[in-house]
Amino acid sequence: MSRIAYVDGQYVPHRLAGVRIEDRGYQFGDGVYEVLAVCGAHLVDEALHLARLARSLAELRIAAPMSEAALKLVVREVIRRNGVVDGIVYVQVTRGVAPREHAFPRTAEPVLVVTARRKRTTDPRFGTQGVAVITIPDIRWQRCDIKSVALIANVLGKQRAREAGAFEAWQVDRDGFVTEGTSTNAWVVTNDGTVVTRQADHAILNGVTRRAVIDIIGAEGCRLVERPFSVAEAKAAREAFLTSTTLDLLPVVRIDDDVISNGEPGLLTLRLRERYLAHAAAK
Ligand code: PDD
Repeated sequence: MSRIAYVDGQYVPHRLAGVRIEDRGYQFGDGVYEVLAVCGAHLVDEALHLARLARSLAELRIAAPMSEAALKLVVREVIRRNGVVDGIVYVQVTRGVAPREHAFPRTAEPVLVVTARRKRTTDPRFGTQGVAVITIPDIRWQRCDIKSVALIANVLGKQRAREAGAFEAWQVDRDGFVTEGTSTNAWVVTNDGTVVTRQADHAILNGVTRRAVIDIIGAEGCRLVERPFSVAEAKAAREAFLTSTTLDLLPVVRIDDDVISNGEPGLLTLRLRERYLAHAAAK
């Protein structure tokens, strides 16, 4: 089955799909996006993703390309046309096409692109054996709560992780506190069993997976504190893990050159992972 993309009002073969060269997303990174998981043919936490998309658009004063009801139909149609049962949907809205000038164009209409693909299989050992992260300075702008397509700092960070033989890079603010990964949220479990993740301020993306895991922690009767944690605290933590739509919840077993605990995924981490996978699979 050949892939189909939705681009600005039309369903087109994915390999031929393109945007105009003066699309402001292309020239300025002037746009926002969402990545949603499809699990057993249903969308995981769709309402939270659509609410975050609306918020990102409002923060950047980009008009919604269509009503939420219409967007839901397009997303479902792209999933259907691509035969995706387990996979992801990418939704992107840019401010539109206009002669290049930094200030908002007066006439541009927002451009919507929706693509879908079957799940790229993550190595199952990541879930059972855990992954390594490195720490790097957070060089991003001060509105990381907006899911902007301008991801160059994240791209550079992920590449540094790859070159260091690690899975992810945890970005660190000027005060020495971890903000988040380049495409994931960061978590630790302290020695008294408290789960800690940074509060959803302007320094991080308030992950949809993060929010689901916070609810699961509550339902499990575990203690959660949303506060910054330092690199030193993370390295001395009992457990660590990361979350995102595409990776679910993965144990972190090494930070830079330091092994977390005994180097095995933590028991609470594994329990939360199991609960999250059940949440994603449930209708
Ligand atoms: N990234 N932090 C950053 C910087 C992210 O880019 C993401 C998601 C997350 C986790 O958010 P969520 O749980 O809503 O996926 C945190 C997506 C998956 C991406 O860019 O591909």
